[in-house]
Amino acid sequence: MEDVFYSYSPEKIKDFQEICHFSRKLCTMPDNAILEQFYKKVLETTHKYPREKLEEEPDREKILREEAFDEILRVKARKQGRPTPINPSTILNKEWTFGKGSLSRSREEKNYESLKKSLDVFFQTKCHAVGHLFYPKGGYRMWHTNKYDMDGWLMFLVHVDVLNQSFIRYIHPETKEVITHWDTAPFSVNFFHINFNDPLWHCIAADGTNRWCQGFLVPPNWRDFIHST
Ligand SMILES: [Fe+2]
Repeated sequence: MEDVFYSYSPEKIKDFQEICHFSRKLCTMPDNAILEQFYKKVLETTHKYPREKLEEEPDREKILREEAFDEILRVKARKQGRPTPINPSTILNKEWTFGKGSLSRSREEKNYESLKKSLDVFFQTKCHAVGHLFYPKGGYRMWHTNKYDMDGWLMFLVHVDVLNQSFIRYIHPETKEVITHWDTAPFSVNFFHINFNDPLWHCIAADGTNRWCQGFLVPPNWRDFIHST
């Protein structure tokens, strides 16, 4: 049976050095002013730290309604030829946007472009970038499915500066088991399958570590390109 989640050590993947190089270059901290604003929002505003919710099973109906509502706004914008709406209060500067429990970094960063190009070569196809996120210590992403965002295999390059302090947690769509994958190495590459008809519920927490991740949509036959040394 094909699983929905796989994790590898990127250093052990053949011909992955260039990808590792550009991925590492992207693990820089935002400046203190940005971090201060982040913590202020997380700790003091409506986004008040809901970390404990990640220990419970999600309220799936409520969350799916919210995800569907967001999708309606996106479709509306697309039909009217407008870019996806961004709440102006989330823009911190031209590089960083505030995303509730994490910071989202601009895709125009030159190392991000280089990383994307290396991936296109490695997987012999265009790998659509889906997110460049930084979770400062205490950061999180609540339970969600991404089912309206994409359909297919996602690859995330994940970096942490303290081990065993952060995780991706997911509910296996077939067995319904809640599985927590801890970040046990400074650098790992995770693959997981987003499926519209059988959503993969997942959430992320970075407790005692900073966590950087860069995500890409990869081809369905991605495993044909991954050869461990
Ligand atoms: Fe996600």
